[in-house]
Amino acid sequence: MRHLIDPMDLSVKEIEHLLDLADDIILHKEKYQEVCKHKKLATLFFEPSTRTRLSFEAAMMELGGNVLGFSSANSSSATKGESVSDTVRVVSGYADIIAMRHPKEGAPYAATRKVTVPIINAGDGGHNHPTQTLTDLMTIRREKGRLNNLTIGMCGDLKFGRTVHSLIKAMSRYENINFIMISPEELCLPDYIIKDVFEKKNIKYKNVRTMEEVMPELDILYMTRVQKERFFNEADYIRLKDSFILDERKLVDAKKDLCIMHPLPRVNEISTKVDDDPRACYFKQALYGKYVRMALIMTLLGVSADEDR
Ligand code: CP
Repeated sequence: MRHLIDPMDLSVKEIEHLLDLADDIILHKEKYQEVCKHKKLATLFFEPSTRTRLSFEAAMMELGGNVLGFSSANSSSATKGESVSDTVRVVSGYADIIAMRHPKEGAPYAATRKVTVPIINAGDGGHNHPTQTLTDLMTIRREKGRLNNLTIGMCGDLKFGRTVHSLIKAMSRYENINFIMISPEELCLPDYIIKDVFEKKNIKYKNVRTMEEVMPELDILYMTRVQKERFFNEADYIRLKDSFILDERKLVDAKKDLCIMHPLPRVNEISTKVDDDPRACYFKQALYGKYVRMALIMTLLGVSADEDR
């Protein structure tokens, strides 16, 4: 039985297979519409979500399976004091696979010790978000045609941004990736990522304070939201929340084939005027998330379209 807790739980080859499968699902949807018949996905979301939860649910439905779960801790027995490990132990008797989001770092990993079904980490605090990473890799591969030889600028909240942490780990395994970190000093990348990923693997990176100074270099601009929910102090959030706002003016010097990504939700860090720019990929990115989650559910459940026919 496999779980997906950290993006590094998947080898580069396994990721390639997942992305190939997701591409095939887009091309041949009808082939996959019953592969998970009689299977159930439980979505246990102790923290809010739109894309991750609903794309998981849509993914399972489009595979012919069923969905159960809760969308907030308040509507579960967590409010009565039930532990996460008791919750998942019980739910693993009701479902064949579990997608779980939790505000505490490490909660999905701890849950794996008590379950009899695969667990997928759908985001744990400021730590990891491996299915967003699969979504991001699929977007990059489809939009740029490659996962090697790229300069990627990551902008905004790099301290608490789990999508950024997970994507850096995953991209560090591809060749000739140049990382540019664009953030205010207070929201810069945690030391453990710098030491364990960049320094250990001798990967090129630099820190800058404005997106304008590096815009012409970028193949990918990965924007992120300053996350109110991760701040202890509201005054700090208010001071930092509008640090970076991407608008049409800032794109004047960007490459014609720049790929602008954002895991979403957006607050105001990308002007809505950018949405019509052909380089804006963030809504396509959210859609790709459904297909790659379909591929992941199939893989962790060990089902295939060929077996089904
Ligand atoms: N990208 C992402 O995780 O979005 P949600 O919080 O809406 O799931």
